Amino acid sequence: MKVPYKTSVPDGFGAGTVMIVRGVVHTGADRFYINLLCNDGPDSETVLHFNPRLDESSVVFNSLECGAWGSEERGLGIPFQRGQSFDLLLIASRKGFKVVVEDSVYHDFVYRLPPERAVFVEVGGDVQLDLVKIF
Ligand code: GAL
Repeated sequence: MKVPYKTSVPDGFGAGTVMIVRGVVHTGADRFYINLLCNDGPDSETVLHFNPRLDESSVVFNSLECGAWGSEERGLGIPFQRGQSFDLLLIASRKGFKVVVEDSVYHDFVYRLPPERAVFVEVGGDVQLDLVKIF
């Protein structure tokens, strides 16, 4: 699949929505991202910015409201490695986004904006994408 990859989620990413992402981190990767966006424009608010940073050995979670980043949240450790494939689930639960990597819950990001406002999903950066499915 071509990266950056963008798809619409017409009903929004409300509670109960699940996304499966399967891919491979580039061998020389610095960073990649999954963004849940409120519109298709370049300045969209971002309900969730999920940003594995191989260059920092961390994963940043954030939101972007009214053109400004909120406070960064980081998961514990980094469940991605350069050159390695991964299976990720992004689950919109009642209170937040639950990120599951290789069958282990990695982090819960409590909603800052209503998840149903996210009507586009974009995946980009130093990653090969093999599968994206939204249920
Ligand atoms: C910035 C970075 C953005 C985004 C943001 C998240 O430093 O340039 O791409 O990751 O952090 O807080």
